[in-house]
Amino acid sequence: MKSQDIRSKFLEFFKNKQNAIVPSAPLLLKEDTTLMFVNSGMAPFKEYFLGNAKPKSNRIVNSQKCIRVSGKHNDLEEVGVDTYHHTFFEMLGNWSFGEYYKAEAIKWAWELFTQVWKLDKDRLWATVYEADDEAFDLWKSETDITHNRILRFGKKENFWEMGETGPCGPCSELHYFVGDDLSKQSAKGVNVTDEYWELWNLVFIQFNRDNSGKLTDLPKKHIDTGAGLERIVAVMQDKVSNYETDLFQPIIKHIEKITGISSKNNLVPFQVIADHLRMLTFSIADGVMP
Ligand code: SER
Repeated sequence: MKSQDIRSKFLEFFKNKQNAIVPSAPLLLKEDTTLMFVNSGMAPFKEYFLGNAKPKSNRIVNSQKCIRVSGKHNDLEEVGVDTYHHTFFEMLGNWSFGEYYKAEAIKWAWELFTQVWKLDKDRLWATVYEADDEAFDLWKSETDITHNRILRFGKKENFWEMGETGPCGPCSELHYFVGDDLSKQSAKGVNVTDEYWELWNLVFIQFNRDNSGKLTDLPKKHIDTGAGLERIVAVMQDKVSNYETDLFQPIIKHIEKITGISSKNNLVPFQVIADHLRMLTFSIADGVMP
């Protein structure tokens, strides 16, 4: 399936669950001085989570342009060196502002992955925040995941925050084993080795962190999910690297043409240039001047 169709299918799936499709916000939010760039799908919706503004619809779906090169979420050192981190990427997300919550988010994520996209259940692992018994039980009751594939992790892995302050909460992730030998999988590899890719993060937004670091309950509970389009496309196109997908190959081929150099023995520089070109192009298109 082509990347464009994968993006459309995601939007379509959630439209059928009564989520309105909305366009991506720009990469730079002038009104939010806590972030250099939009670093996640939820950043443009901060005021909705805080209850300071009202969305047109309480259930939406989108593909948000994101840049992670600074601050709390900074992937810069990994870019080009590994096969699945980028400065610029698209985050597919479904959103509930005070409506559906953990049960639906978990059930639909599993339905899309295993029934619609038919990802191999024997490669998928779910993680939950160590204290979140509710999410742990919902993976058992709402999906047919093998129970020993539901793992608990601490704050570092499974408590999501956009920055030093702002809306936040425990999260639950779906990880995918990309290795050749399925029998080599082990709970010990998840969140540890590069053979397990985090594909989707379901965040259960329920707190706000203030300047002093204190957490307070938000007036309502919300759903914020984020799935990296580039990784999903790699898995769906059966590639071991995001750079081998149709999102990057035309750019890499064009750099080869212009330079007359093959990318074959120069993977890292070609990957870095292709990544940065996408980031610059989208930034400039959104009015950011280098
Ligand atoms: N906010 C979460 C993330 O960026 C899920 O969208 O990973």
